Amino acid sequence: MSLLSVYKVSKQFTVGDSVVQALDDVSFDVQEGECLAIVGESGSGKSTIANIILGIYSATEGSVLYKDKELPDKRGKALRRAIQLVQQNPLSSLNPRRTIGASLRLALDVHGIGEKKDRNGMVETLLEEVGLPSEFRHRSPAALSGGQRQRVAIARALACQSRLVVLDEPTSALDVLVQARVLKLLEDLKQRRNLTYIFITHDLSVVRNIADRVAVFEKGQLVEIGSTTDVFEDPKNPYTRRLMAAVPIVGRDEQALRDKLSETMK
Ligand SMILES: Nc1ncnc2c1ncn2[C@@H]1O[C@H](COP(=O)(O)OP(=O)(O)OP(=O)(O)O)[C@@H](O)[C@H]1O
Ligand SMILES: [Mg+2]
Repeated sequence: MSLLSVYKVSKQFTVGDSVVQALDDVSFDVQEGECLAIVGESGSGKSTIANIILGIYSATEGSVLYKDKELPDKRGKALRRAIQLVQQNPLSSLNPRRTIGASLRLALDVHGIGEKKDRNGMVETLLEEVGLPSEFRHRSPAALSGGQRQRVAIARALACQSRLVVLDEPTSALDVLVQARVLKLLEDLKQRRNLTYIFITHDLSVVRNIADRVAVFEKGQLVEIGSTTDVFEDPKNPYTRRLMAAVPIVGRDEQALRDKLSETMK
């Protein structure tokens, strides 16, 4: 049984007189415990599919199944808890007026996680789990660096104890060294908590490092899906081939080193 199935999903947006076909008959499965990367150029429909999986947008056609049950457009609390989203810019998803501790506590309260009396302790454990000192619970999001903020957003996704996390460009706004650390954290958490990831990124070196399988989107269509090794070593689709050829594939460390060097050469 797949954890999640996207079945013949299409999405059209109407803007004024024109209709944008953001997704066109997209189907794929996500297996429990895997990391499925979604790649494709800007505007190819990656965030749209993420939003449909999360129930933020409804599909024009088709359906999304979670544990073999079709997800309704309007989701109850249990289903909202089951699938979590980590976005590119955590500033827009964290309430600026709430302390980090209050935001995490709210997630626990809303979803009724643990006993009330234990929740403050759970907030500290969550911060620890994402590598932040527990004193950070008193800070506001504005008082954190981008990488620290992203760790808080990850902690909030963990607070709900969901097994499936959709990550939409989670490291794209971070500088490369911080990016490597956040990626390492995501990999560790995945192992420790047996999470399933749908990892949207335009960075193919990230895909190579973290994904088990890759789905390639082009203009709203899923043009290729396969194991990371197969797609990288022998891309079948002409678009995928162009995409792979256009991006130099280097390891994370190598990339970090390169950036560091170019930094010192400025
Ligand atoms: N709310 C919306 N209203 C109208 N059009 C939209 C909306 N959201 C997305 N689109 C359009 O749908 C298409 C797919 O957009 P989407 O955001 O899914 O792309 P993406 O692959 O995530 O791109 P990027 O890599 O830049 O984030 C684009 O043409 C976009 O302009
Ligand atoms: Mg996007």
